[in-house]
Amino acid sequence: MSNEVVLTGDRPTGPLHLGHYVGSLLNRVKFQEEYKQYILIADVQALTDNYDNPQKVRDNVLQVALDYLAVGIDPNKSTIFIQSLIPQIAELTVFYMNLVTLNRLKRNPTVKTEIIQKGFGESLPVGFLVYPISQAADITIVQGTLVPVGEDQLPMIEQANEIIRSFNNIYKTEVFSNIRAIIPEVPRLSGIDGKAKMSKSLGNAIYLSDSSDDLRKKVMSMYTDSGHLRVEDPGKIEGNVVFTYLDVFDIDKVKVAQLKEHYQKGGLGDVVLKKYLFEVLENIISPIRQKRQEFAKDPSYVMEILKKGTQTTLETAENTMSKVRQAMKLNYFD
Ligand code: TRP
Repeated sequence: MSNEVVLTGDRPTGPLHLGHYVGSLLNRVKFQEEYKQYILIADVQALTDNYDNPQKVRDNVLQVALDYLAVGIDPNKSTIFIQSLIPQIAELTVFYMNLVTLNRLKRNPTVKTEIIQKGFGESLPVGFLVYPISQAADITIVQGTLVPVGEDQLPMIEQANEIIRSFNNIYKTEVFSNIRAIIPEVPRLSGIDGKAKMSKSLGNAIYLSDSSDDLRKKVMSMYTDSGHLRVEDPGKIEGNVVFTYLDVFDIDKVKVAQLKEHYQKGGLGDVVLKKYLFEVLENIISPIRQKRQEFAKDPSYVMEILKKGTQTTLETAENTMSKVRQAMKLNYFD
């Protein structure tokens, strides 16, 4: 086992979808064999734009945990914890706030895009603007060194590294090490409508918890090629979501190549093609769905897992903070 520490996480604002599955969940199942891995359920961050809907955040903590367990994240190998129950993250965030300028925050491209998307305008909450600072605290509180994230989160890592460098320089310490992002090999999964990103807010997601019927309906409604009107017409592959998904999810590459050829030549109808994709996805999702339903029968067992993971993280966090307080000369009673 390497001595790198992985920190990764999700905002609990909804159940996880296939984009999460290929983009991060599969990696986590792999990383737990190779690294010490912490998985954060970022309820505090979820509240930055859902502060008026605490029930939604609370409900989704369990939903996200169910998804984790269903895909094979093993609580004996990964430490899953709830962000709000680690007060040291909030404490460290406050100290980091002195090291970041308002202008620097406003320049963070990810935050900039999100502010526009969410339409905050003049009523932008301070808590939302500063979430990259708290994200740096999420990572460093467990002394994380590797952070698997989507490409859109790279500015977060850059900003976290700036904070780490400032902290180490100003307080003449080496408490924190530079962190590195791990970007998934698979490109970002598009939505069933063909939009570049699968996301809950765009309403174009396939969830790991979708029923077989929902899955079938979603696949049948997928965007293919608007020019492909009759079965015998030649069809296009580029931008055709069904083929995008087959490329990602079907391990039978020979079959996919044959289907592509047939489709481009003409004579392969969308319905037949979609039925095939449904089978491929159902084979992946059905065992996950079953495991999820098993865990869902016993929510108190799942909460117990989160409680244990949170207790473990609390010890690590306090250990980090005692070094931080020492470096910052706040260790008054030592
Ligand atoms: N921002 C991430 C998301 O949108 C969640 C998150 C919070 C996170 N803190 C983190 C990811 C720290 C990686 C590292 O889902």
